[in-house]
Amino acid sequence: MISKCLFPVAGYGTRFLPATKSMPKEMLPVVNKPLVQYGVEEALEAGLTEIGFVTGRGKRAIADHFDVSYELEHQIAGSTKEQYLSSIREVMAKGSFSFTRQSEMRGLGDAILNGRRLIGDQPFGVVLSDDLCVAEEGVLAQMVKLYKQFRCSIVAVQEVPDDEIHKFGVIAGEQIKDGIFQVEQMVEKPSKEDAPSNLAIIGRYILTPDIFDVIESTPPGKNDEVQLTDALLSQARDGCVLAYKFKGRRFDCGSVAGFVNATNYVYENLYSQE
Ligand code: G1P
Repeated sequence: MISKCLFPVAGYGTRFLPATKSMPKEMLPVVNKPLVQYGVEEALEAGLTEIGFVTGRGKRAIADHFDVSYELEHQIAGSTKEQYLSSIREVMAKGSFSFTRQSEMRGLGDAILNGRRLIGDQPFGVVLSDDLCVAEEGVLAQMVKLYKQFRCSIVAVQEVPDDEIHKFGVIAGEQIKDGIFQVEQMVEKPSKEDAPSNLAIIGRYILTPDIFDVIESTPPGKNDEVQLTDALLSQARDGCVLAYKFKGRRFDCGSVAGFVNATNYVYENLYSQE
């Protein structure tokens, strides 16, 4: 029912300079796999096989990663080294990959709007690959199930401490079921004094396609950028948006500390099993 997933990947990754000077931050490896591949695998697990990237200048390595590397593959064909390609080959066999560019950084809302042609008129997932999520059942798969029940936009949330709340979009609303909230309030990166709760949005969304028109009429907000959070608040006021306290763990790979934690976790818990 939902088959498409959008990956906004145009950001600069300044916090990882100089590593990200000529390489997309999404290609930084968490152990042996680029960060973005974890997100794509999560989308595929949820049945979202049409992957759309909203990319920008200097991000060609992402497109190359999801394509055949003919010379390399020819060289190692038939050797024991070929096994190291198995995860990306599986991803390529399951998914299709499309790309469009965001030419100016005008915010997450604008990035999503740039993906409109790739999505068309159907509900879709969004993954911010900086947030690496590990869970028994993938977070997007959990959200797709919920979508089938409620058929409205859904944001993933988790509780964060007061001193971190200013880094996130924050929601408040009525809890209609265990861990499911009907959103009434939503603020992008509030101060801890202004935050309506400690439920922070993490980078997983299911969006209904009317969001595109809503984004078009959403003026720039926090940091003078078009914020998806503001558009979702309009959607919530006119209809319904849910916030879902997902089951699982999230690593903030947009920060060096979170990236190191993710690396240690993957090395200790996932990598050895491959
Ligand atoms: C974006 C969203 C924010 C959300 C966060 C999750 O912010 O704008 O609402 O809480 O992702 O990672 P960013 O971290 O890209 O500035």
